[in-house]
Amino acid sequence: MQRVSTLEAWRAYAKAQRAHGRVIGLVPTMGALHAGHASLFEAARAKGDLVLATIFVNPRQFNDANDLRAYPRTPELDQRAALEHGVDCLVEPTLEEMWPDYPNDTATTVVVRGVGDILEGAGRPGHFDGVASVVAKLFALTGECRAYFGEKDYQQIAVIRQMVRDLALDVEVVSCPIVRDADGLALSSRNARLSDDARTRATAFSRALQSAQSAPATASTLRTMMRETLENAGIDVAYADVVDPVTLVSSKDDEAGERRALLAGVVGGVRLIDNAPVVVRARRG
Ligand code: PAF
Repeated sequence: MQRVSTLEAWRAYAKAQRAHGRVIGLVPTMGALHAGHASLFEAARAKGDLVLATIFVNPRQFNDANDLRAYPRTPELDQRAALEHGVDCLVEPTLEEMWPDYPNDTATTVVVRGVGDILEGAGRPGHFDGVASVVAKLFALTGECRAYFGEKDYQQIAVIRQMVRDLALDVEVVSCPIVRDADGLALSSRNARLSDDARTRATAFSRALQSAQSAPATASTLRTMMRETLENAGIDVAYADVVDPVTLVSSKDDEAGERRALLAGVVGGVRLIDNAPVVVRARRG
């Protein structure tokens, strides 16, 4: 496995691989790699891509300094996991190279309005500006590629797709299914920070989604049902919404069809998100 840390070497490596006819499968991560990331590496390998994984804990997407401080960092384990899962090139850029002006503001910020303003965007101001800005830079450094993202961060994928469309970036965005533990909890680097009690209560996210999936109803009935499940588990709910799967606009009760249920809440001091496809029925009368 090749290891790269400078932007110059990263750009040169990707260019040389493309010149040899390889398609680059970019897997952007913030490290603390788990089976969800491994599934992205596998998805890229399954398409025959050259797997280029990045590890960079991007401070610009954290609107809370404590959250950034507490974010798990496991560099040795990550290197081993990347090697085990067939990553061809592991890129670990430094903060100084990625954001030379940090902690001062960087003059250029990518802002995706609309889909980036709601839900996570409303609850974590500036979060998606940080995500879009760093992902735009990862795309610029890698060049033409396929980029793999996990559906656990469903809204993040919608924001990135919008950015790719609006800026005509030479990137195919590939979304990959959520990977869950046996008890249903969606894998996330943040799960490492859950106490045993919070870990048990966090299974309410997938239980709420499962009950919404198994009992098609109006969008508001599903919202209420899911919120109650989360609150009963002592989760401080940020939102429990049912939305259009592309625009992420909240569904109305006179609408029917396939939608996406999106959940966010804080359990034991850790903010978690989860989502799943659901079917909504239109209110009668
Ligand atoms: O999903 C993540 O881990 C991050 O938001 C990403 C896409 C690597 C950007 O920092």
